[in-house]
Amino acid sequence: MKAYRASILYFSGFSDQENHRAVLESDGLLVVGPDARGRQVVQAVGPFHQLAPRFAGVPTEHFPGRIIAPGFVDIHIHYPQIDVIGSPAEGLLPWLENYTFPHEKRFSAPDYSAQAATFFIAELLRNGVTTALAFATSHPESVNALFAEAQKNHLRLIAGKVLMDQNSPDGVRDETRQSLLDTEALIQRWHGVDRLGYAITPRFVPSCSAAQLRGAGELAARYPDVWVQSHVAENRDEVAWVRELYPEARSYLSVYEQFGLMRPRAIYAHCIHFNDEDRALMRSTGAAAAVSPTSNLFLGSGFFDYAGADRVGFSYGLASDVGGGTSFSPFHTMLAAYYVGREGQTKSGVSLSPQHLWWQHTGGAAQALGLGGVVGNLLPGCEADFVVLNPQATPLLARKTAQAASLDELLFSMIVLGDDRLVEKTVISQAGSAAGHPQSKL
Ligand code: GUN
Ligand code: ZN
Repeated sequence: MKAYRASILYFSGFSDQENHRAVLESDGLLVVGPDARGRQVVQAVGPFHQLAPRFAGVPTEHFPGRIIAPGFVDIHIHYPQIDVIGSPAEGLLPWLENYTFPHEKRFSAPDYSAQAATFFIAELLRNGVTTALAFATSHPESVNALFAEAQKNHLRLIAGKVLMDQNSPDGVRDETRQSLLDTEALIQRWHGVDRLGYAITPRFVPSCSAAQLRGAGELAARYPDVWVQSHVAENRDEVAWVRELYPEARSYLSVYEQFGLMRPRAIYAHCIHFNDEDRALMRSTGAAAAVSPTSNLFLGSGFFDYAGADRVGFSYGLASDVGGGTSFSPFHTMLAAYYVGREGQTKSGVSLSPQHLWWQHTGGAAQALGLGGVVGNLLPGCEADFVVLNPQATPLLARKTAQAASLDELLFSMIVLGDDRLVEKTVISQAGSAAGHPQSKL
């Protein structure tokens, strides 16, 4: 066992339905140790003065002035797009054609994939992200490289080979039958190995033939605990294209339903151009949205309608969507989500609370993935993935956080002023011990 003494931030519950209040123990103790399966999990969390006598013999690391918080959960990110960040385009479709597809072609080379995977995982950890749902490319080698690197770092990572057998250029386009055989072989090789999970990954409706979508749906039925990930209703030109491809379909989202791709553990990025029938379909099938505000602002895609999502009641969590998204930092994503909420699609928008923003990138995102109670929180039984935040990381952060008169004010200071400098250390749960990743400060 091992214990950590610091201020500790966690949530009082696991689900959106419970009142998941944020709690800050100003002088807290987090005790971590193995569970029956040998996983390193939280054994106790609470005030230091209450817990210290019970755990007197346990080696304790003290982080004075620091805040321990749950590791962040990013539920939509593309590892092959680290070099696509900041590529200007008129909108999604020219961005894909001019920047994204040409970059992704390089991942047919295992060496290229391996060095990108190493950089990507290090960047997640540097930013405090300890669970991610990621796209690879259409090349199986790119998936192997990513999983191998995640496994080495004991990261909880879910990923998949992109399916794209039409409307895609040579070098990234795959072949229908082979793509489904490759997907199944990758599921068998990686799903459930250590902390890894597989996601069946049709890129989006325009890039997949009906036969490929049908095959993906059949695999999703055969492997119910495997994830599904895709994009939907991100951009108006994309929505119009899907209408041309499926003129008889009720909506873009309903095409995924038609092919058996709507179910719990199915995560759809964006979900912007939705009506209430689409929202009800998300809710009734148990699918979840990956809200990607920096991407939506950068590509001019539109604004996720928080009020609509909450009115109908479907599940969602926050995501960076690098490289459409502009930052790995959960602080940047939470701030962009705040801006998007303010703008909204309703007249006045909503003012998302800092606690709710933080929840959407930790416990709420975990719940959207079907991993509520496993990651994204620091209650007993949760896997011990956490960050050590330094609220004095910059002069302005130090000045501002010192004046916070409430937990909401403290969280908002960090959301608005924070970035990778705030994350002093990322600790990953692993069988036997917890591994620290001190951040190199350039
Ligand atoms: N739609 C299809 N592919 C992509 C992608 O790589 N990024 C984004 N943002 N949207 C997509
Ligand atoms: Zn995406």
